[in-house]
Amino acid sequence: MKLTVVGGGSTYTPELVDGLARMRADLPVSELVLADPDAGRLELVGGLAARMLARAGHPGTVRTTVLGTAADLDDAVEGASVVLLQLRVGGQAARHVDETLPLSCGCVGQETTGAGGLAKALRTVPVVLDIADRVTARAPGAWIIDFTNPVGIVTRALLDAGHRAAGLCNVAIGVQRRAAALLEVPPDRVRLGHAGLNHLTWVRSVEVDGKDALPALLDGHAEQLSGASGLPAAFLRRLGAVPSYYLRYYYEHDRVVEEQRGAPTRAETVAALERDLLAMYADPALDTKPARLDERGGAYYSEAAVQLAASLLTGRGDAQVVNVRNDGTFPFLDDRAVIEVPARITRDGPRPLPVPPLEPLFAGLVAHVSAYEELALDAALRGGVGRVAAALLAHPLVGQLDTADRLARELVAANRAHLPWA
Ligand code: G6P
Ligand code: MN
Repeated sequence: MKLTVVGGGSTYTPELVDGLARMRADLPVSELVLADPDAGRLELVGGLAARMLARAGHPGTVRTTVLGTAADLDDAVEGASVVLLQLRVGGQAARHVDETLPLSCGCVGQETTGAGGLAKALRTVPVVLDIADRVTARAPGAWIIDFTNPVGIVTRALLDAGHRAAGLCNVAIGVQRRAAALLEVPPDRVRLGHAGLNHLTWVRSVEVDGKDALPALLDGHAEQLSGASGLPAAFLRRLGAVPSYYLRYYYEHDRVVEEQRGAPTRAETVAALERDLLAMYADPALDTKPARLDERGGAYYSEAAVQLAASLLTGRGDAQVVNVRNDGTFPFLDDRAVIEVPARITRDGPRPLPVPPLEPLFAGLVAHVSAYEELALDAALRGGVGRVAAALLAHPLVGQLDTADRLARELVAANRAHLPWA
């Protein structure tokens, strides 16, 4: 089985390879292709990946492909069963702009939320769609698993274009692992009532063997759970749910803006960490995932990706949290909207499982952000400062005319090099 990773030069890749090595029975990969435009990174990451598989006694081979021309990409994806997308258009430099530019308007600076998330969508959607066209042409049966942010918008773009795709995020698996540890049960016995949109979710139940353990968890362990969401424990108890840490950008928006002003950006922190990680990867004696990789946000990404790929290929029919079309799950959203909920994973793709009706407090935000996502995708596909401004006007964290117009002009100007239409 051939697995291709586009953005394979990412410093995250050893996390994935670690999972491939540990879970080889679930996903027997014979050829791992790491494809990336950055030859230098690819050499370092590819070398470590090969040493990791060899150390684990994994029979699979690792091949690296430097992406220069369309032919390189065709070669990388030809005959693949799964293509994993984990790329970042513009790298940490573009992310730094996403994280700083909105601050001058009093808006949160974040790479997937608010104006920064829109800028990222504008840069990313056209690139991902071009890649997906090559995948569908060269490996027609392949599954595209999208970890590239903003996952909700990118997944919607892929599905609308007719690709076999599912969107993946590690927020849900992170909460599942934390809850399992607190409850002292194996993670596979814990089923989350996780609902919302990518990076806009609440866990409303934590089922263990069919019984909801969330009330007991909130009684006894709200402090530890609040660590997962960055929001006060008392607030979690009030909600009766565990919000994802991305909801802090909404519920404590102005406080986050204050914290961000003058502080180093996550892009700067990650860029420095990446330099250290790449220096470690260059050491021919290193043949395991270094502990410092845990300083990045991708915990359990490998487990989530391997389990999703395995179930898509074999049709195990288990439930996993993925980004999938709404198809009536939230009656107040368009069927074609992409949501993040538990889904049954079949050979024909994920099928969303029924979700108890969302409380108005959650439903209002989901509807609001879903409308933004639709306009964001329209701006990414068709371009134009006016469409960018319309998406910002629809975003609950922007929403005002002057701010939307100004941010639209500024983020288009700052991202011009990455926008085909600007
Ligand atoms: C989590 C999120 C991802 C995001 C990542 C950022 O994993 O689910 O969507 O890309 O954090 O991590 P970083 O180390 O780049 O800040
Ligand atoms: Mn995510």
